[in-house]
Amino acid sequence: MTDRYILAIDQGTTSSRCIVFDRRATVVALARAEHPQSYPQPGWVEHDAARVWRDVRKLITRALRDAGLTADKIAAIGIANQRETTVVWERATGRPVAPAIVWQDTRTAPLLDGLDPDVLRERTGLPPATYFSATKVRWLLDSIPGLRSKADRGEVLFGTMDSWLIWNLTGGLHVTDVTNASRTQLMNLATLDWDPVLLEMFAIPRAMLPEIRSSAEVYGTADGLGVPIAAAIGDQQAALFGQTCFEPGDAKCTYGTGGFLLLNTGTTPVRSAHGLITTVGYRIGSQPPVFALEGSIAIAGSLVQWMRDGLGLIGTAAEIETLAATVTDNGGCYIVPAFSGLFAPHWRSDTRGVIVGLTSYVTKAHLARAVLEATAWQTRDVVDAMNADSGLALTTLNVDGGMTADNLLMQIVADVLDVPVARPMVAETVSLGAAYAAGLAVGYWSDPRDLRANRHRAGRWLPTMDPAKRATEHATWRRAIAAAVLFSS
Ligand code: G3P
Repeated sequence: MTDRYILAIDQGTTSSRCIVFDRRATVVALARAEHPQSYPQPGWVEHDAARVWRDVRKLITRALRDAGLTADKIAAIGIANQRETTVVWERATGRPVAPAIVWQDTRTAPLLDGLDPDVLRERTGLPPATYFSATKVRWLLDSIPGLRSKADRGEVLFGTMDSWLIWNLTGGLHVTDVTNASRTQLMNLATLDWDPVLLEMFAIPRAMLPEIRSSAEVYGTADGLGVPIAAAIGDQQAALFGQTCFEPGDAKCTYGTGGFLLLNTGTTPVRSAHGLITTVGYRIGSQPPVFALEGSIAIAGSLVQWMRDGLGLIGTAAEIETLAATVTDNGGCYIVPAFSGLFAPHWRSDTRGVIVGLTSYVTKAHLARAVLEATAWQTRDVVDAMNADSGLALTTLNVDGGMTADNLLMQIVADVLDVPVARPMVAETVSLGAAYAAGLAVGYWSDPRDLRANRHRAGRWLPTMDPAKRATEHATWRRAIAAAVLFSS
């Protein structure tokens, strides 16, 4: 009898992927498509949700074809997705009522005024910020004539990308998982259900919200394929799962569009005193949920993308490394990429980016170096907060995600943090986490601990930076952050 496989969908901020994994977590086939980013006004970021769904549908077909498999060889589908991004669609037609408002979008900053930060933190583990879905849904309800009364009647539905894809894959099932729900700012971390106080605070009708389910269970069957959809999990939590960070104290940092450091804190939510957020890490079926502390960095890879598409200083994302390697330092220049405000540990939705320290000496190579360093220093800020919250010093940073192919960046991160950086063999840990969750839900894999055997380290970088230089550069970075905050709108 031939073996079966798991199909993972990773619906990310800049691209969607479909990956077929075998039982040993080997990638059998990978299909990928980028979708356009739309920036209609400063601070606005939108996606065409219908286009994203069309991409995913095609990618499933392409991945199966490339793997030489028919759907009956797929034991389950797992979905990981960009979190917080908000889609509202008509129940009757399945048509989105507006472009999806992406997690990076800051148009809703005025809606944060008057929100009680203590109530939000206590109930959701999250500070007031444009990042989360709640203000985005509210903005749509307030801005589109007639939408609120349709929402009251349940004629239009809200979902993050997991809900949107499951709705389309199943022909009308409206569910989400607990990790995605924890990023809407509408779910209570204690009850794991929609919170009536928050729904009132944001004026969002419950009738438009999906049912909250675990991250790993069979929700339904994909139309036309007959394959169970058995996992949905936010992409950063999926990477935590894919890196097999199953024990309290296990942590990973994923570098994609943004950067996201997650620390497994076990079955009790831990509140941060240093600007991190408390979030659900994963929930397998009816087992107790596992929580995480998260340090979210809004802009990492998207700063490289901006150098390429916005400024035209490089032709491909990979060129950033070659260009940065032509100089030995940043020439005195620092970039604070607060394009979507500053996330952890600052939480300033009103801050905008700055480039400081410019002189005529600075070339595009120095800027390229400052781009990579911005990711490293932002990581340092969240690692410092994580160490302060946990009372423990991080000893190794486990990394994954597309940006970790950049060896110079990995060395700079090790230097700035003064800890070794380790990269696993399977870089596609987001997809792998979704595959693991789906595989566990249908009994394809039986014990999460067995999955550890699939984990192999592919790269390790040791810190080499002189401590005095690190301290001076850190002080300058902090001044650069202060300059960005001064430039708040
Ligand atoms: O919270 C946003 C995050 O889920 C986006 O991840 O990898 O799609 O940029 P990514």
